[in-house]
Amino acid sequence: MCGIVGYIGPREAAEVVVGGLQRLEYRGYDSAGIAIFEPAAGLQLRRSVGKLSNLVARLSREPVTGHVGMGHTRWATHGNVTEENAHPHRDTSGQIVVIQNGIVENYLELKARLLELGYQFHSQTDTEVIAQLVGHYYREEGALEPALRRALAELRGGNAVVALCAAEPDRILAARLGNAGGVVLGLAQGESFVASDVPAILDYTRDLIFLEDRELAVITREGVTISTLAGTPVERRPVAVPWDPVAAARGDYKHFMQKEIHEQPRALMDVLRGRIDQEAGRVHLDDLRLDDEALRRVRRIYVTACGTAWHAGLVAKYMIERLARVQVEVDYASEFRYREPVLGDDALLVAITQSGETVDTLAAMEEARAQGVPSVAIVNAIGSQAARLADGGALYLHAGPEIGVASTKAFTSMLAAAYLFALRLGQARRTLGPAQIRAHLQALVELPGKAAEAIERALPVCAELAERYHRASDALFLGRQVSYPVALEGALKLKEISYIHAEGYPAGEMKHGPIALIDEDMPVVCIAPRDGIFPKMLSNIEQVRARHGQVIAVGNVGDTELAAKASHLIDVPDTLPLLQPVLSVIPLQILAYDVALRRGCDVDQPRNLAKSVTVE
Ligand code: G6P
Repeated sequence: MCGIVGYIGPREAAEVVVGGLQRLEYRGYDSAGIAIFEPAAGLQLRRSVGKLSNLVARLSREPVTGHVGMGHTRWATHGNVTEENAHPHRDTSGQIVVIQNGIVENYLELKARLLELGYQFHSQTDTEVIAQLVGHYYREEGALEPALRRALAELRGGNAVVALCAAEPDRILAARLGNAGGVVLGLAQGESFVASDVPAILDYTRDLIFLEDRELAVITREGVTISTLAGTPVERRPVAVPWDPVAAARGDYKHFMQKEIHEQPRALMDVLRGRIDQEAGRVHLDDLRLDDEALRRVRRIYVTACGTAWHAGLVAKYMIERLARVQVEVDYASEFRYREPVLGDDALLVAITQSGETVDTLAAMEEARAQGVPSVAIVNAIGSQAARLADGGALYLHAGPEIGVASTKAFTSMLAAAYLFALRLGQARRTLGPAQIRAHLQALVELPGKAAEAIERALPVCAELAERYHRASDALFLGRQVSYPVALEGALKLKEISYIHAEGYPAGEMKHGPIALIDEDMPVVCIAPRDGIFPKMLSNIEQVRARHGQVIAVGNVGDTELAAKASHLIDVPDTLPLLQPVLSVIPLQILAYDVALRRGCDVDQPRNLAKSVTVE
């Protein structure tokens, strides 16, 4: 979750950039750096490890002056927190600088190719690979824009990239790939701005243009020119952002829930930041206060949570048991706290909570503490009570504030965090070697991009399905194994915001009761990815169809067999089976949202519910 700011105009660029970065520091503060073009001396870089104040101090000792430049606050993903790894990064010639927010999924591949061509690297980052690649193509093209286009065409993953070339100081280029890294352009008289988020530039302008996926902007003093990466010009008028800070935070979205659904690719990326080392095949959870030995001693894990977080806990059980081979029990916190649990001295409690303030979850953590059992919190709210209570460490989601009462991005981030935790445990317990961990990490870094694809695929289908089914009075959600908690979560999303009665069930249990409810009016949502249990799911689908139920299947892209069996198919990309819930749940969130909209419900603040339940 890095922050990016760029400026071109009559002001001192360093002041604008540093001021903007201060507004974005919440996005990361492992290091910061700026590049300013000084007409007499060329590109000047200043980079410092740690908070932005370190960079500011450095700039006062070694000032830079110029009217075009860019800067970055870093939250490390690839490579440690060092000055060499701080952005901006340069190409070999030193004439091109690049900053990035995102992950280059195939950077190892690209780096190997560039190394073979004789390029030398000075950092461990994926961003330096972009800089070198742009530099490489610049030698052939002789201009930044075509060189950047060629480089971007080879990147996989979600990124926001900003580049500047000493030979073309009249322009900054910015591009967005995927939904992970936002890019906002700011327009004013004789000056232009670029940033990863609105607050960075609101002091100067409220005329903003949001760059869409696979678009590139050429930013000059006179304004911006946008085109697709394929080169087709794009006409987009600036929007004037409102003064109301809540509305400003909601941006272009109608509801926070909608915004948060769309933030998932970014949130999924942010949960990985600084925690994975793809080259070594290792997971680093520095916020865990349990070392390898402590993790090896754990014989049993109690996962405890409420609501959506409890559904994440159910998935976490599969992840931890399969990857780390530790026995896991999952409890509702409100049940756990009163059942006088027998924990044992080789146990670990894992509390999962978005707010970190849910009263029952906190009480469950207290119970563990009373029994001398350490607890780890998988938590979103920084500094919350759960984070403070977690003597085994708080594993932060870094998903950003979740405002919509119906949890979306926190849920998928919890799944990714639980996966990291399971890998970390497997690493300590040696149930997984580096090569296996590397394969899991590759799947994790591909997840944000796939989540973005899942959103894009689901939007039109869900709109149609919502139109058709929004008057339903009941709905059933079925899944098996890891897709069972997804079914529970899909049902919860629908009932909490649309007030349609919905139930989630393990598909194998359908015959023991719920099948009696099925008739031709009953939508039955079946989560059926191509995993080991798929054939069983398929026969459950047949059983629903035989009772004339309307089957809405969530399956993998290209599954013609499933498409033939279901009344409707919503397809999501495939990934490793234990990560599939992250993608399968996305259409269910969108479906619930679309249905609630059509029923005229208050999506962000459904009746009777609260975002944080701090009472029993
Ligand atoms: C409330 C919210 C849910 C949330 C649950 C647990 O019911 O409406 O969205 O899943 O509390 O909250 P937590 O903050 O502990 O994750």
